[in-house]
Amino acid sequence: MPGHESLAVEVGGLRWRNPFLVGSGPTTKRVDQLIEADRRGWGGASIKLVIDPPPYINRQPRYRWSKRDRMHFFTAEKRLTLDEGLRLIEDGRRAAPHLNLLANITYAGEAGLEGWAAMAGKFEAAGAHAIELNFCCPNMSYNLEVTGTAGGDRPSSGASLGRQPVVVRDITLAVKRAVSVPVFCKLTPEGGNIAQVAKAAFEAGADAVGGTANRLGLVDFDIHKPDRSVIRLQDRHSLVCLSGSWVKPLGLRDVYEMRVACGAEVALLGYGGIASFEDAVRYAMAGADLIGVCTQTMVAGFGFLDRWIDLLEMYMVEIGATSWRRLRDRLVRQVATAADLDLYAGYAQVDEDACSACGVCGRIGHCNAIEPCPEGAPIIHIERCEACGTCVDVCPQGAIRLVEQPRR
Ligand SMILES: Cc1cc2nc3c(=O)[nH]c(=O)nc-3n(C[C@H](O)[C@H](O)[C@H](O)COP(=O)(O)O)c2cc1C
Repeated sequence: MPGHESLAVEVGGLRWRNPFLVGSGPTTKRVDQLIEADRRGWGGASIKLVIDPPPYINRQPRYRWSKRDRMHFFTAEKRLTLDEGLRLIEDGRRAAPHLNLLANITYAGEAGLEGWAAMAGKFEAAGAHAIELNFCCPNMSYNLEVTGTAGGDRPSSGASLGRQPVVVRDITLAVKRAVSVPVFCKLTPEGGNIAQVAKAAFEAGADAVGGTANRLGLVDFDIHKPDRSVIRLQDRHSLVCLSGSWVKPLGLRDVYEMRVACGAEVALLGYGGIASFEDAVRYAMAGADLIGVCTQTMVAGFGFLDRWIDLLEMYMVEIGATSWRRLRDRLVRQVATAADLDLYAGYAQVDEDACSACGVCGRIGHCNAIEPCPEGAPIIHIERCEACGTCVDVCPQGAIRLVEQPRR
């Protein structure tokens, strides 16, 4: 894909033709998908999670996508075996030559750290550009823990490991010693300490760290048929792995927190609900070097990237950004705590011509400044108005605005 030099980046010891990679998941499990991602100009792809050795939880996939909420959720999922994963990397290197290929792996056997190191070594030998250690999957041992069904001697995997800085450090260190390709760590936000875990990963030598953004949850079910699963062709409920646009504010926070805790020198991947070029920019501004997209490729394929890149380049010209790197961290410097925010005094004002006297603003529970008036616009008692802004947002007519008080 010629002509996009301003988007080429060096991240995590690799050169990327642009910062967009297809996140590990259902759209990176076959070579035809990698070929298509390559043809459509993606910078890289992380192949579907490879777990070794069996047995591990491996089911036919059952997915749901709520268009309205832009929310994806699932529990049952199929992983790649070691052989499938190695073959995919080998074939992908041949057939998708412009993609950086990450091997997303979990070792779940008796050999512990040596098992992780040996598995990573096999993927290096197969041609992976980088190893991506999966410390994020919430649908394996972590799901069992949360549902109280963990037990036996099944080894920890995914999100169970990713909450523990010491475990992440030890595995990363062992894999770093075993391979010479870059080592990426993909962390879970479950546990609430992603920034501390990221620090531990970097201290162990990780070349880049990302947050998966996924959360486990229980989605709305039919209260008249509470026994019926919301997922088709699936019996019983499950704690589901949630992704898509709704998770974006949380994913942005993960990246921001990692950037603040780990400093400007490290490389970060942003994942979570990225569904437009603007979202990609937001992630860069919150601290991301690379942009990982999964759900959007599930529901829309790989072809949208062309348009995103065109729009991104136009935007960069418009704001005078000569390279992708220049967008990074712009938001980080802006984020302040409540104590440090600049608040401007003001009050709500009603446009009497636009007001339909519906009374909605008068029902706001925390406000005692708006006096509804059945025949016309409400009266706003400016001296009691705290300028919180809720009335502006609930007014169906868009007839209320906040006015800033003149500053002295
Ligand atoms: C169905 C599905 C399967 C996934 N499988 C993997 C996986 O095997 N390994 C991994 O690291 N992340 C996996 N993910 C997480 C995604 O790569 C990504 O981090 C997350 O979904 C947030 O991004 P998104 O909102 O663009 O999907 C999966 C996500 C989905 C929806």
